[in-house]
Amino acid sequence: MTQPADLGHDELVRLLTCTDPERLARLYAQADAVRRETVGSDVHLRALVEVSNVCARRCAYCGIAAYNGGLARYRMDEGAVVRAAQHAARLGLGTTVLQAGEDPALDAETVALMVRAIKESTGMAVTLSLGERSNEELALWRKAGADRYLLRFETSDDELFAQIHPPAEVGALAHAAASATAAMASATEPASRGSQPRVQEEGAMLARTSNPRFAVLESLRELGYEVGSGVMVGIPGQSFETLASDLQRFSELELDMVGIGPFIPHPDTPLGAQAMANRANGHALARLDEPSQPSQGFEPAKPTDQVPADANTTFKMLALTRLLLPGANIPATTALGVMGEEAARRQALDCGANVVMPNFTPPRFRALYSIYEGKDAESESGKVLEDLCRQIEAAGRTVGTGAGSSRSFQQRRNGQGA
Ligand code: 5AD
Repeated sequence: MTQPADLGHDELVRLLTCTDPERLARLYAQADAVRRETVGSDVHLRALVEVSNVCARRCAYCGIAAYNGGLARYRMDEGAVVRAAQHAARLGLGTTVLQAGEDPALDAETVALMVRAIKESTGMAVTLSLGERSNEELALWRKAGADRYLLRFETSDDELFAQIHPPAEVGALAHAAASATAAMASATEPASRGSQPRVQEEGAMLARTSNPRFAVLESLRELGYEVGSGVMVGIPGQSFETLASDLQRFSELELDMVGIGPFIPHPDTPLGAQAMANRANGHALARLDEPSQPSQGFEPAKPTDQVPADANTTFKMLALTRLLLPGANIPATTALGVMGEEAARRQALDCGANVVMPNFTPPRFRALYSIYEGKDAESESGKVLEDLCRQIEAAGRTVGTGAGSSRSFQQRRNGQGA
């Protein structure tokens, strides 16, 4: 069994800032070899069902945040969710991922019913991605049969986390429309100053000093879930030092699943508006527009530089994650696909990734689950799935069958350690 690579913080920073195409090609080849030796050639497909776009939170980057009053909201009922999962099961998928905003109406019992119905009628593995939820809810869902849980910690920099995640309000949903106006006003203000790289949400920085998602991840582990987390790449205010710490956090948490995607600015969010203005002003985020191949003779970036929200940095993160967590399941994320389409997915599969998550949200809801733009482009029709399988085979890989739980989780369950 391939051992996790012994990569310290400085070495991680060095590789993340590296722009030498030959060194990067070696990194990707090494990650690909570890992927092959550890999890084999299978690419597992997960049916993503976006159950509700109602969200009580006001995350500064997310298009379905409560402040976005212009967005029509939907919530699928149990029948629609189960039918979407059954559709995926008929097409041969072994896992359903139920994802939603932090929707208070998706209460403990409602979700438990969905999980039980999917497990009973399809036998699929069920992954939940429903935000920061209470231990009681997580325990109930686990008892109902949920196998896995995804909760990205987004960044290991507590201060940056606090700045982009205002604390949840009591009755947040009722206030969503009113706070939309205020949030958008504060969004344009720092952007117009141009030089301020971080969102200045008054009070947000003082309100929280640590990322509460780590405690949730710990609870998930104790409850016996297969645990997934991850980060966005290129959040304004994120440095290469921060990304290196993110990778070290993945190792410490011994994650079974790691989702990493580029930050895609959404114009109706404070952070998206700011990133777009920074780009217009020629700031570091202008590198969003860079071609996806590194140019020859580039100076390496500085460790404290703003991380570009681009495909290349995401590939580096995927490759390093594979080296640090050889037995993890690592998706070629939708955000990466939105940014670089089929070629980006292919490259992700070539540098450590082994999972793809086709969208099975019914088409009439899909455009409304707009956490970032361009997300609703794909479709779940049999034809799209056939194309996806063909792409996987063209990459020299096989389409996984069954539940496809991570190697690390299987080993932990068999008492062999990760
Ligand atoms: N760009 C990229 N990823 C995003 N997410 C939310 N908003 C954006 C965005 N604008 C990611 C977050 C979240 C996951 C469900 O989607 O990392 O955890």
